Amino acid sequence: MTDRKVITKDGSATYYSEEYGESYHSLSGAMEEADKKYAQVCGIGEREDVVILDICFGLGYNSAAAIDAFNGSSIRIVGLESYQGIIDEISRMGDEYPFKCHNIMKQIASEGNYEDEKTYAKLIMGDARETIKSLKKDSFDCVFLDPFSPNKCPELWTKEFFEKIYRVMKKGGVLTTYSCARIVRDNLTAAGFNVRDGPVVGRRGPGTVAVKDQA
Ligand SMILES: C[S@@+](CC[C@H](N)C(=O)[O-])C[C@H]1O[C@@H](n2cnc3c(N)ncnc32)[C@H](O)[C@@H]1O
Repeated sequence: MTDRKVITKDGSATYYSEEYGESYHSLSGAMEEADKKYAQVCGIGEREDVVILDICFGLGYNSAAAIDAFNGSSIRIVGLESYQGIIDEISRMGDEYPFKCHNIMKQIASEGNYEDEKTYAKLIMGDARETIKSLKKDSFDCVFLDPFSPNKCPELWTKEFFEKIYRVMKKGGVLTTYSCARIVRDNLTAAGFNVRDGPVVGRRGPGTVAVKDQA
């Protein structure tokens, strides 16, 4: 893999994608972004059980932040990712992997799944626009949406893709993403979501939270 490692301002590591010309996380803090813009937005610490769809799994930081912060009895995660090179990096990383559940993440990366009495996770490789079609309707409480930016990866920010996400979310389900771009919010609204500001983290603008209020 040609992506190179970068240390972000909270001390956690991420990678810079030569293909997309962007880093995998905010340089203000990769670990902080995963925790505050993804795991905490879905109220992870207060849930007894939760089913999460992690779109653009990458190094798995958003899922890892959720697993580390979860205090309930059942957390189930499906990750969607297209690039095997970044998945392999999860197993290659040592102590710089910033989450306690690194061993769980390594098994997901090498085996494609993980299961214990509390945690179930499965990784589906391929283009998320196709692989999402294999998921059942009304399945997910939370969606972590983390593609490269709308300029670099427009195909994952379209109304058509958001409609596919909407289909697999439960009524009342919450989607969270780092982007507050107008095109993202307009397309989420057109797909049926109610959209509001997400948290401000680092020096960027707010993220976006989109709720499926109707069945
Ligand atoms: C900003 S990074 C995600 C960072 C990730 N959440 C993490 O914690 O490392 C975007 C990810 O989207 C993946 N990706 C790009 N196009 C994709 C597609 N069509 N389907 C699925 N994944 C895709 C990239 O390989 C990359 O891992």
